[in-house]
Amino acid sequence: MSLYLGLLSGTSMDGMDACIVDFADDGRAQLIAQHTTPYPDNLLAELRALMHVDAVRAMPRVARLDAWLGEVFAQAANDLIERSMLKRSDITAIGSHGQTLHHDPHGDYPYSLQLGDPHRIAERTGLTVVADFRRRDIAAGGQGAPLVPPAHAALFADTTETRVIANIGGIANITILPPKNDPATPVRGFDTGPGNTLMDAWTQRHLGHAYDRAGAWAQSGQAQPDLLARLLAEPYFAQVAPKSTGPELFNLAWLQARAGDLLDTLPAPDTQATLLELSAHSLMAAIEANAPDAKRALICGGGAYNTALMQRLRALAKGMLIESTADYGIEPAWVEAMAFAWLARQTMLGLPGNLPAVTGAKGLRVLGAIYSAH
Ligand SMILES: Nc1ncnc2c1ncn2[C@@H]1O[C@H](COP(=O)(O)OP(=O)(O)O)[C@@H](O)[C@H]1O
Ligand SMILES: [Mg+2]
Repeated sequence: MSLYLGLLSGTSMDGMDACIVDFADDGRAQLIAQHTTPYPDNLLAELRALMHVDAVRAMPRVARLDAWLGEVFAQAANDLIERSMLKRSDITAIGSHGQTLHHDPHGDYPYSLQLGDPHRIAERTGLTVVADFRRRDIAAGGQGAPLVPPAHAALFADTTETRVIANIGGIANITILPPKNDPATPVRGFDTGPGNTLMDAWTQRHLGHAYDRAGAWAQSGQAQPDLLARLLAEPYFAQVAPKSTGPELFNLAWLQARAGDLLDTLPAPDTQATLLELSAHSLMAAIEANAPDAKRALICGGGAYNTALMQRLRALAKGMLIESTADYGIEPAWVEAMAFAWLARQTMLGLPGNLPAVTGAKGLRVLGAIYSAH
């Protein structure tokens, strides 16, 4: 038995996912405890506010938020350990992704900034923490994202068939998994574009809810082909991989700029329906173009619970099966946090965590830094 604890909050900022994973010696992973802690309202408000102020005024707020988030992540880990009834000392390490504040792998000094002071997590939990996974890949010339594909391979690769894993979080990413009996073909993957982030933002603006449960509001409207065409004209969709993106690009200002006058003339539910269609189209187009021979796509991330989105994916899939990772033994909500437990284990074993064919890094790298328990 070797236990690792994964801590993750994605761009949706819907809550901190904490999970404990048991890895067998051969690497097989089993999820044995899990819990989501929502961010406190004042923390969420500060995170959202900070994304809209200029850098100089933000400096002390960023530094304070790093410490605050460290405490909150540590609490999430401690809560889960208590609930799980496991012995703390049985957990080898915590893999903490941190909260992304900004991701820009394109500039003259590319970066990806995650907050959530790992020192505090180590101090409050008494456990070794592995964190800061993305920056090593970026230093090696990569995008620093997506990092989940090798974990997807460990969890879901099949012996004989090519399959796709699609993680629909705030941003959507895909992993194309060649069969295990074809080790010469590399695992590929990239961010396809918006997952839930635009739908969430539109729902927050018009309904005041965090998200559109089951996509019901979207289903009350009609997707508008003119608007969809304008949104799909975004150059990111046509870029070749490696590529990664975030809410820095796909946000309501982007929607306003792309949609122009159309946005003011359409009923809000029609725009929501079109945003759902945008997520479905951009994802399926990426799968079709990059994995035409895949038999099935397994969906994970919060988007798997959006039944309207799942319906549209199935309608667009042209014969490819669209399934949930739940059908393969892992609830969609836990795959990404499990991936950070997996990444922590790689680092602790001195093994690489990135895939150069995915991120574009110059080579395999052991990711992150180790913050000792004592
Ligand atoms: N029942 C549901 N119906 C519709 N959407 C859902 C549901 N549950 C979760 N989601 C969506 O999933 C998002 C969270 O997904 P998650 O995988 O945690 O993303 P991230 O990795 O960005 O945090 C929510 O913001 C919401 O948009
Ligand atoms: Mg989340």
